[in-house]
Amino acid sequence: MARKLILDVDTGIDDALAIAYALASPELELIGVTCTYGNVDVAQAVRNSLAILELFGRTDVPVYAGPQREGFEVMDISQFIHGVNGIGEAELYDAARAPERLSAVDFMVQSVHRFGDDLVIVPVGPLTTVAAAVEKDEHFAARAHIVCMGGALTVPGNVTPCAEANINQDPEAADLVFRQCADVTMVGLDVTLQTLLTTVETKQWRALKTAGGDFLADATDYYIKAYETTSPHLGGCGLHDPLAVAVTADPSLVETLPINLKVDTEGASRGRTIGDETRLNDPAKSARVAVGVDVARFLQEFMRRLTGLASETPVV
Ligand code: BDR
Ligand code: CA
Repeated sequence: MARKLILDVDTGIDDALAIAYALASPELELIGVTCTYGNVDVAQAVRNSLAILELFGRTDVPVYAGPQREGFEVMDISQFIHGVNGIGEAELYDAARAPERLSAVDFMVQSVHRFGDDLVIVPVGPLTTVAAAVEKDEHFAARAHIVCMGGALTVPGNVTPCAEANINQDPEAADLVFRQCADVTMVGLDVTLQTLLTTVETKQWRALKTAGGDFLADATDYYIKAYETTSPHLGGCGLHDPLAVAVTADPSLVETLPINLKVDTEGASRGRTIGDETRLNDPAKSARVAVGVDVARFLQEFMRRLTGLASETPVV
């Protein structure tokens, strides 16, 4: 039976790839997309998510808006990597439908109660909405299963020497989630910067001559170009968010380290994900951090699934 999935996105180019990966995965049933801020604001994340779902013919998947941190403004570096519209200036029609009235926080809380162990929540943006769900419902932290993209345990951050972008947006929320939630898998830069895509692959999408293929190629080429400037040593763009979805569909793609995590919230190391020294000797570990990844197998699955999905969209 497919596992039910809530994908929490700040859509974002790699968030768009994560939505596509979820739609193309028979192991997962996407029951809702919740929108947060980060690469763009919540309103734009909602707009992009609705448009992407419509492009792939999945107007049955509801979209929910989450809370936005007070004073949030899109960072210059986010705009450089993802474009002003968040999807690399790729052009998509606005969806004909609107987001749901229910808030993302309430949707998460209700879904955890309704589906229990059959549900996994995959946040691939700041953990603001998940933290709000923990604070709203006393059972949420114990019952929710979470696979998040964020953090960096064995490598430097990508916004500061210590902080990864998603954690950096709201370190307090991430700290609360890592300290309180009973089951968290962290898919961070340790592994997501090993899974890289180049224009060799995006050409395959363009060759499909479909609306979905063109969108994936246009958005990802923009993202690859940005990475050529910010991280030329990598030789491709990081497939951060789709890797978290792939790990949810198939946990054997990564090796993990059991650990109790916390996030530094003060000083120069603000935003750092690190072991919680106060729980070092606790034999129960609430988190697993991905530290190794089967790159070849993931990339093969990524291309197979997304190319299949894009080939089913209208010919252009
Ligand atoms: C993370 O930050 C965002 O810019 C990406 O979408 C990804 O979720 C990578 O650090
Ligand atoms: Ca993201």
